[in-house]
Amino acid sequence: MLSNLAKMMFPPKDVIGIDIGNYAVKIICFTEEKKTLKLKDWGYIPLSIKADTPPEEKKAIISQEIKTYLKKKSIQARYAAASISGNAVIVRYVKLPKLSKKELALTINVEAEPFIPFDIKDVNLTYAILNDTSADGEPKMDTVLVAAKREAVQDKIDIITDAGLEPLIIDVDSFALETLYNQLMPKGDNSSVLLLNIGQKVTNLSIVSQGVTRVVRDIFIAGATFDKAIGKALKSDPAAADAAKKNRGVLVSDEDKAAAIEAFDKEGIAVSKAASGVLKDLYTEVSRSIDFYLSQGVDHSISRIILSGGMSNLGNISRFLAAEFKVPVEVANPLAFLEEAPKNMPKDVLPALAVATGLALRKLKDWEE
Ligand SMILES: Nc1ncnc2c1ncn2[C@@H]1O[C@H](COP(=O)(O)OP(=O)(O)OP(=O)(O)O)[C@@H](O)[C@H]1O
Ligand SMILES: [Mg+2]
Repeated sequence: MLSNLAKMMFPPKDVIGIDIGNYAVKIICFTEEKKTLKLKDWGYIPLSIKADTPPEEKKAIISQEIKTYLKKKSIQARYAAASISGNAVIVRYVKLPKLSKKELALTINVEAEPFIPFDIKDVNLTYAILNDTSADGEPKMDTVLVAAKREAVQDKIDIITDAGLEPLIIDVDSFALETLYNQLMPKGDNSSVLLLNIGQKVTNLSIVSQGVTRVVRDIFIAGATFDKAIGKALKSDPAAADAAKKNRGVLVSDEDKAAAIEAFDKEGIAVSKAASGVLKDLYTEVSRSIDFYLSQGVDHSISRIILSGGMSNLGNISRFLAAEFKVPVEVANPLAFLEEAPKNMPKDVLPALAVATGLALRKLKDWEE
């Protein structure tokens, strides 16, 4: 932890949110001037690391990329907030027996074990009691359990440290998205919203109802799944598939489909078919989480879907998913709350900054407390 002296010497504004993804590293740093948030720095560092690179080498490459970028852009940050997701972490919203804080602290490993699919010895277990409730006539507590694999947390700490930064917090992608969502949404919004952050290897799913997260799950259908399907259809390598994916998209309306056929646009049709197939698989997985959520006896069905992550740039993805789920789908602008929009930011970078923005915001909040 920081000593008070360090806090005085290095004001909290120097904390950067840094989202180390499989496709790109995203960086966000805010500063507060007269109670108004301003974007101090942002960064997007594409990573093209060969799949067979050994883990240690991979970490070294990422650290170096970050270090070089910070230097090139003269970003003078000292502290960083990063996050983990995917296989490295499990988040569960569960009902535990009503216990005092002390009692729970003593028994948490035993209480949590049935919900955690990892060996409890390999994880950092944290938890928070959300509220009192009851089930089967017994007093219970709604509790969120977070089990993070020690090794994965250490990997992020190593990358950040080797990049010359000090890791202040290792958060979870989904919690960063929740922080962002709370910043973007007006207070008192009662609806249930589905957040889908579609990246390269993982899609982070959250269901937020009345400002509180109810379901969190990571799904392993994301950008790489599209590349594989498109690569197979076009008989091309993943890099070419990635490029085709960015140039094309899914054909949704009958007019678009007819126009593609008329123009003999073989590649466009093949990409659309492959991408539609993956989106349908994603739809099936997401539907299971929605059913799980609804099975808990909640009164609100999902009223809309907010997309983020690099994959939300896929042409027509909102229209496609809106037709499948039959609810409105929009792409997030994670920086919509700023009075001054950032200049010179490529349009497709913006939705990919969701996690980094949530990380940067969370730090500001934590410092205020
Ligand atoms: N303009 C675009 N059109 C279509 N897809 C895009 C576009 N820009 C980025 N993508 C895709 O978005 C994906 C990367 O998204 P993102 O940066 O959110 O992933 P990540 O955070 O690095 O990965 P992960 O969270 O899985 O580790 C890639 O599959 C990339 O091809
Ligand atoms: Mg990501």
